[in-house]
Amino acid sequence: MTLSSSSRDGFSSRLGIIAAAAGSAIGLGNIWKFPYITGEYGGAAFILVYLICIALIGLPIMLSEFIIGRKAQKNAIGAFKDEAPGTQWALTGVLGLTTAFIILSFYSVVAGWTLHYVGLSVTGSFKTAATADLGGQFGAFIANPWLPIFWQAVFMALTVAVVFGGVKNGIERYSKILMPLLLVILVILAVRSMTLEGASEGIRFLFQPDFSKLNIDAVLAAMGHAFFSLSLGMGTMITYGSYIGKQENLGSTALQVSVADTVIALIAGLAIFPAVFAFSIEPSSGPGLVFITLPNVFSQMAFGSFFAVLFFALLAVAALTSAISILEVVVAYLDEEFGWSRKKSTLIVAISITIVGAILSQGNGAWGGLKLPFLLGGEWKSMNIFDWFVTLSDQLLPIGGFFIAIFVGWKLGDKAVLDELSNGGRLKIGYFKVLKVVLRFIAPLAIAFVFLSSIFGFFA
Ligand code: PFF
Repeated sequence: MTLSSSSRDGFSSRLGIIAAAAGSAIGLGNIWKFPYITGEYGGAAFILVYLICIALIGLPIMLSEFIIGRKAQKNAIGAFKDEAPGTQWALTGVLGLTTAFIILSFYSVVAGWTLHYVGLSVTGSFKTAATADLGGQFGAFIANPWLPIFWQAVFMALTVAVVFGGVKNGIERYSKILMPLLLVILVILAVRSMTLEGASEGIRFLFQPDFSKLNIDAVLAAMGHAFFSLSLGMGTMITYGSYIGKQENLGSTALQVSVADTVIALIAGLAIFPAVFAFSIEPSSGPGLVFITLPNVFSQMAFGSFFAVLFFALLAVAALTSAISILEVVVAYLDEEFGWSRKKSTLIVAISITIVGAILSQGNGAWGGLKLPFLLGGEWKSMNIFDWFVTLSDQLLPIGGFFIAIFVGWKLGDKAVLDELSNGGRLKIGYFKVLKVVLRFIAPLAIAFVFLSSIFGFFA
């Protein structure tokens, strides 16, 4: 039980690190966002591109963030300042903090939805509802001017309570128990969903690729989501990396977290898509997909209400362990660079985010008519403010990841990287060479290519 360095708070055990990093990665991204974008972009072919992005870009960038964080023992901006003094590299950290702020504003809104659905499950409101009613119920709820704000504020209060506790007491303790429980519930749900009548079409949708449905927007969404789902591109894993002990193997930690995250997303897909087809729900229903589909499954299950409460509560917890990691990026910075107390920085940031999120949530209702332009696929699309922020995060994260890859590939230096990878010992040199080529060329070029072609619509 060693800590990462003298007075810094850190993770206390190997399981703690993996649980906390996996707790950050596994969240609404896996269970809410992955299914609905998979539905929008046509299923298996999209998933295949997503998996390639995870392996080729996500995993090496997670490793890079760990390397930067553990080497510097600093927050996301401080780390760049220390490792590249007198340069503009700290801007990568600034971009990360900005992205963290943006993501948590909409993330907390969706997390609030899950809390509301815990309430609906407790009162057994799904039992009698037909699919159309469930859709209507969801639409009416998110359009309500106050309810989503109320639940978002409750969620942010919970997040603040945990972050107050600090890394070991707060973050680690909760992740360790509740994440495995979520996996168990998801597997039960997947089994029920796959044994529904008409489920096989959903399984085909997930595993039989139809490449004609793939376009550059889908590729960008897959890449953006790989970053989102693995919590990359904004310094979360730099911050968590700074809490990892010097004796831990960063490569295997990154690998385990990425695999766990991917497996959970795929199981969520198996829980949702067979049911989507069995109940004739439109796969491209958008952000409501999970909230409309799963209540149907619960209504067809023994002890359905019990499972519904458990599922939505655990989903809220999964969102909580991710939200904590997002907030921690900003809090660690204010803490270390300005000497603010943990409580002060947590409160100020959380309140500001709650206000921005409350405004965004109106995009689904009262201010739905307010549209902002977004350049995608070579044309200006108009989106409500909520969707605009979600789409923006899909772009900001890969930009952050681009600079992180370049930083570790070109700037940090072979010795530092080798030291972190091998914990100051020896390393198979082939592994290092491959990583270097990926970080220097493959990942940045792939990101730049997808990003530019999606904005300007080269392959649209
Ligand atoms: N990875 C989280 C999820 O999939 O729900 C969301 C997230 C957390 C994104 C932390 C970015 C981040 F830095």
